Formats: sequence, C-alpha cells, structure tokens
Amino acid sequence: MKASEIRQKYLDFFAKRGHAVIPAAPIIPRDDPTTLFNGSGMQQLVPYLKGEKHPMGTRLVDSQPSFRAEDIESVGDNRHTTMFEMLGNWSLGDYFKADQLPWVWEFFTKELALDPARLHVTLFQGDNTVPKDQESYLLWHKLGLKDDHIHYYDSSKNWWSRAGTPDNMPIGEVGGPTSEIFFEYTAVNHDSSYGKECHVNCDCGRFLEIGNSVFMEYEMTSEGLRKLPAQNVDFGGGFERIVAAVQDTPDVFATDLFTPIISTIEQVTGKKYKGANMPAMRVIADHLRAATFMSAQGLVPSNKLQGYTMRRLLRRAAVRARSLGGDAKEIFLASIPSIIGFYSSAGFISADSASGVAELISAELDKFTSALIRGERELGKANKVNEQLAFDLYQSLGFPFEITQELTSIKLDETKFNKLLQAHQSKSRTASAGMFKGGLADQSETTTRYHTATHLVHQALVDVLGEEVTQAGSNINSERLRFDYTYSDKPSNDQLARVIHVVNQKIADNLPVTKAIQDKDKALRSGVRAFFPEKYPDRVTVYSIGSYSHELCGGPHVAHTSAIGPLELVKDENLGQGIRRIYIRFV
Ligand code: SER
Repeated sequence: MKASEIRQKYLDFFAKRGHAVIPAAPIIPRDDPTTLFNGSGMQQLVPYLKGEKHPMGTRLVDSQPSFRAEDIESVGDNRHTTMFEMLGNWSLGDYFKADQLPWVWEFFTKELALDPARLHVTLFQGDNTVPKDQESYLLWHKLGLKDDHIHYYDSSKNWWSRAGTPDNMPIGEVGGPTSEIFFEYTAVNHDSSYGKECHVNCDCGRFLEIGNSVFMEYEMTSEGLRKLPAQNVDFGGGFERIVAAVQDTPDVFATDLFTPIISTIEQVTGKKYKGANMPAMRVIADHLRAATFMSAQGLVPSNKLQGYTMRRLLRRAAVRARSLGGDAKEIFLASIPSIIGFYSSAGFISADSASGVAELISAELDKFTSALIRGERELGKANKVNEQLAFDLYQSLGFPFEITQELTSIKLDETKFNKLLQAHQSKSRTASAGMFKGGLADQSETTTRYHTATHLVHQALVDVLGEEVTQAGSNINSERLRFDYTYSDKPSNDQLARVIHVVNQKIADNLPVTKAIQDKDKALRSGVRAFFPEKYPDRVTVYSIGSYSHELCGGPHVAHTSAIGPLELVKDENLGQGIRRIYIRFV
C-alpha cells in the first residue's frame, strides 16, 4: 500500500465516523512567539481542547505537517526525521475511550491489515493524582489483546502534554494519560547496548510507536492538575512510521515516502544506499525534503529563527552530499518534482511553488557550496584547529559550529565556541541561541493583547490606505506585533500616524470582542477580513471588535479592547514586491 493511499484511508476512516476533515495549519505558526514550528497535530486545537467551540464540530481529523528541530541531530538512524506528518483525530468532549480504542484497532488491523499479533499497547500505570487506566485495559482486553501485549508505564512514557510529564506542565497547559500502540519488527533482534531486556519502549528498533491516544482531560492550575470541562481525545500517529509498519520495513527511508529521493542521491553520488553511506543519505533526504516544504510554504533562509533552521538544514545536507562525492543542488533539483508533487497532491502546498522553490534553494546552496570549498581550504591551511578557528569560520563564511566539527576530525568544545559567539553577538538573536525550545503555544496575556490589536491594525490600515491593503503575514513576540500588508506605495508619516490614532481610539472606546461561527463562504462574501494564503475549514469562527472589525481567526482575544492598552508605531518598512511590514508595540 502506498503512502498517499494510507493517508487517504485514515482521513476517510474517521470521516465515515462523523469527523470533519480540517485543513492542516501552516508548518510555521502565526502569532505564536514561543514556538518556531508546528510540532504536533493538536497545536492548532489547544483553545478547543480547553472548551472553546470549534466551528467544524466536536469530531475532527487531519494530517498535520510538523517539524521538530530538536530531532535534527537524531536524523541518520532508521526512524528519525525532522519533518513528519502527524495523522490526528480529536474528540472535543464527544466520544472517549470506549470508541477511540476500538477505532484505532480497527484502523490498524482491518484498514491497514497490520498483523494483530505484532501490535502491542501501553497504558498509564497511575500516580498520586491520576488513577491507573483500568478502563483502557479492559477495552484492549475485549479487543483480543492478551496480557503479554498490554504494558503499563509511568508518566515518563504514558502521559502527554506539550511540556512532557505533569511536573513540567506550566499553568494553563493541557494533558492527560495516554494509550500508545506499537508495531513489532519480529525480524529485528534486540541490541543489548540499549539495555539488558527489550521492551516496547526500548530504542533498539524492534518496536516502533505508531499511534498515541491522549485522553486529554486535565489542565494544570496553581493548585495542581484539574479536570477540564470535558473529556477529550487527542490522537497522533506518525505517518512516516505507520507507512514503514504497513510496508513492513524498519527503515522509514526505505518506504515510498523517501525512495525517490534516496535513488536520486544514489545516482548523483554513484554510491549505494547501504552500510556507512546510509546515515549521510538519510540526512540529505530528510533535510532537503523539509527545506523544500518550508520554502513552498513561503519560508526564506536567513540568519534568524525559522529561516536559520532552514539554512542549517540546507548546509548540513550540502556537507553530507559533498562527503559522499555528490552535489546537494543536483540532488535537490532532481528531487523537487517528487517532493512538491507528493505534498501538493495532499493539498498542503501549491504545485505552482516548484519554480520559486528551485530558484531560492539553488541560490542558497550555490552560495554555501562556494563557502564550503573556501572553508575546506582554510581548514587545510590552518596550523591549529580550535574553537577560535571555528568561530572565525562562522564569522567569515557562516559555518555553524557543527559543520566545522564535521569537516575536521578533532573534537571541539561547543561551550567555548558559544562563549566567543555570545561575546560577539550579545545583542543579536538567532535560533542557534537555544531560544524557543519546547513548542508551547503562548496563550499569555501579552500575546492575546497584541493579537486583538493586530485585527485593529489590519482594519485601520484598510481605512487609511484603502482596500488595496490585504494581510500578507503577521507575527507577535513579547515586545511587539508585526504585520505584513500589500500596498504598492509608501505610506506618509501622516497616514501612519492616523493608523495608530484610529487603533488607539478603538482601544479607548473599550469595544467588546465577540465571536460567531459561520459558513466560510458566507462570511467571506459579507466582507469579513481573512489571511488568504491560509486554508480555512468550511465553517469558521469570525471575531468581531464592536462593529469595527470582523475577521476569520482562531483566537484567543481580550474581552474588551481597553485591555490592550495604548500602542505606538516602531517602524514601517518596505519588504519589496508591493509588501510592507509595520511594527507596533505597547507605549
Ligand atoms: N498530541 C499527541 C502527540 O503529539 C497526540 O496527538 O503525540
């Protein structure tokens, strides 16, 4: 069974059981200052898990392209990828364990025809606050699983929240006990370097987790865990891993998700995908796939935040390609049709993006490859390879520490390198500074205030500059809001002052912020503002600020505009191609 067929079967299976298929969120979240990338399916659903009404109802299903930068160093083995799709289904206070577990079982054993004898499940063993999950045990038992295929673990394995175990959950974070499902590769023998005994959560590769049903019924409060208003289910299944299980290979890079790109690497490098070549080929395949996807969703390589991660992916791929005697650009250009074709047919990106992506990434790879050749020369000439040299190469050629480390066989001290770097760039902020780890959607008061202000800014720009203005992007951090908009001219200082004045007037008017669920087409016809590159489900939430602004949005927002407080302009700049960027902050 092919990967695309597996995804479709999943969506159809849950659609048949009353789930609305919702569009995936962009891989780079908007207006979320604490996370660089969308790292799980539930990220866009947090407000709804906490009790807000979702416009598409209480049963939802999707496949969510996700990226986990923290896994970048793990890529190279047979199952880690930085980018993956998460197949998700949710019950928002609708069904619970008694429906979810039989459906998961039916999907894996009937739809995908996985051998039930090779499936194992795990359950939460309970702790001082949350009881042992006996109910799920009985359900699995009824489905025919014997005790030697049902395993209990503590919160380190069978509790899920974006922050991990309950003691790490910040106030407001949602989570709950989980029941996970594992596929057993019976042909893989236990590797004792991972521990004396093998067990389902062992990392030796005999078992692969393919699904996680989170029974999300808790929220952290200042007094500890409290039950949410409703019992939710949040299921996530790693698509790449499910495909590997169905195609019965322990290597996700040997599935049809990766074989086209791996064959291209073989052709370009003249090497076979086996033995010592495998880790480098996996890194190239994973990194080029992820960077291509990001580029197709509009990301540009840069020295900051997500753009820096993308740059790192391309540079790491380029170094590996060179180590195999190939050229990353050649591999990349030959792989674009399969990557863009696969994701555009799933509706995540546009097929038209291919030429833009080819141009952008080729230019980036060209620049880096010439830097790489110069860097290799410098390293060849150097008397001493040390942290100072690594720093000089970073400064002059943009080599991340790990690249210098890789090009030399000498072990360098990353802490020393970082000290040199920090002394130099104490003011600049890059993703390499370890910011934004974790991936928690920020529901903080500051973000919420800026978020509501963004709607006012959008409407005020239209009022002052005209209907030519449409949203081209937005971003919030704790210090400011940033709003990108289309406008072919340069707004005058007077016009910008008027925008700020209008926004502050609406804030002072203390307008109520209300929401309503409507049909998308009807809402758009009535002139509600929207961010057009984004995909919206058929029914949408419209947030209104008094009668002044109406916009499609997921929230959250302040209840009345005076909670925002007065704002001031920081700057307004030209991004080129008819797009401008305005920065606004609290006074
Ligand atoms: N949120 C859970 C996970 O990411 C299930 O979707 O594993």
